[in-house]
Amino acid sequence: MYVRSFAAAAAVLLGITLAPGGHAAPPAPASASTPLAAARPATGTRAHPNTGPNAGPGVGAPASAAAPSVPTAAARPGPAAAVRPADSRPRRGALPAPAPAPKDPYRADAPVVYAHRGASAYAPENTLAAVDYAEHLGIDWVENDVQRTRDGQLVVIHDETLTRTTDAEERFPGRSPWRVKDFTAAEIATLDAGGWFSVVHTGARVPTLRQYLDRVEHNQQRLLLEIKKPELYPGIEADILRVLGGAGWLDEHHVTRRLVVQSFSADSVRAVHRARPDLTTAFLGNPQTAELRQYAAFTDRINPQHTSITKEWVAAVHALKGAHGKRMTVDTWIVNGATAARRVRDLGVDGIISNNPDVVRDAVGGF
Ligand code: G3P
Ligand code: CA
Repeated sequence: MYVRSFAAAAAVLLGITLAPGGHAAPPAPASASTPLAAARPATGTRAHPNTGPNAGPGVGAPASAAAPSVPTAAARPGPAAAVRPADSRPRRGALPAPAPAPKDPYRADAPVVYAHRGASAYAPENTLAAVDYAEHLGIDWVENDVQRTRDGQLVVIHDETLTRTTDAEERFPGRSPWRVKDFTAAEIATLDAGGWFSVVHTGARVPTLRQYLDRVEHNQQRLLLEIKKPELYPGIEADILRVLGGAGWLDEHHVTRRLVVQSFSADSVRAVHRARPDLTTAFLGNPQTAELRQYAAFTDRINPQHTSITKEWVAAVHALKGAHGKRMTVDTWIVNGATAARRVRDLGVDGIISNNPDVVRDAVGGF
């Protein structure tokens, strides 16, 4: 699917407007990216704290299924399902539709847009449904979070505990505090990782990293892989590289075009760089300008929270050459609104990580 991006870029250079599918077309209506109501989070469910700071250690800190299936129409509505019903009052399992954001013209210099934890505004975060929904929206890049189970398997989940995004408390009472690292992969595979988000997604599973990679591959998407809380999982970098290699993700094609590894832990990023110097890596955080040069020794990107960055800071990152001798770049997070997306675009960022990647793409003139 990422071929579409190259076609779109070529079209911009030739002055042709492309529809999201890559065909020459008139500009899409502003409502084209209106989220699909059936996939919205349920009202009254647990909070969705998919925003906010997540500061981690910086340089010098302690180190620390089956074959892919296309989701059903109910889980992944097609264009027909996007038509809003005559009665547009919020329904069970639905949130009110946001006002359509104006769509900017395509721009060759638009930042790359990443679906944060998958298209996590529309499907339960870090599930295969969130990967598929990003693909459905035409988003090539998905971001995820990787942790390790008690028996050494790698799973894709954000929180250190299972309580917010699964039914672990109900299924395994007495296992407080329900840490990922205290459960086996077989136990985690039985949990419902979708019902908290929407009744439509009840029964979604916490994917293993291998299942996740296979789905991203199936969809021909690309992966921004976050090593989450590596201080809890000594040696997880080698485990991740082993799974990536087994899934065919460490060949030249994937390494140069389809994979970036990031972490809030500088030690973890450094470990990945040492083990596989050909991989592109990113450090998550907002280092001071004076500190940036230290990071350039072992990483290619600085990925900061968006609220505190300035044009000068972005330019300071760009002025450095990273671990591969190329201009360092900036992918910022978590930007969900059109206004904020244009603001960070105008600061010069190279990428935007978003729960609403379609909204951001359309706001910044992306493809
Ligand atoms: O990719 C950036 C973002 O994922 C970092 O924060 O907490 O969502 O993992 P968090
Ligand atoms: Ca993440």
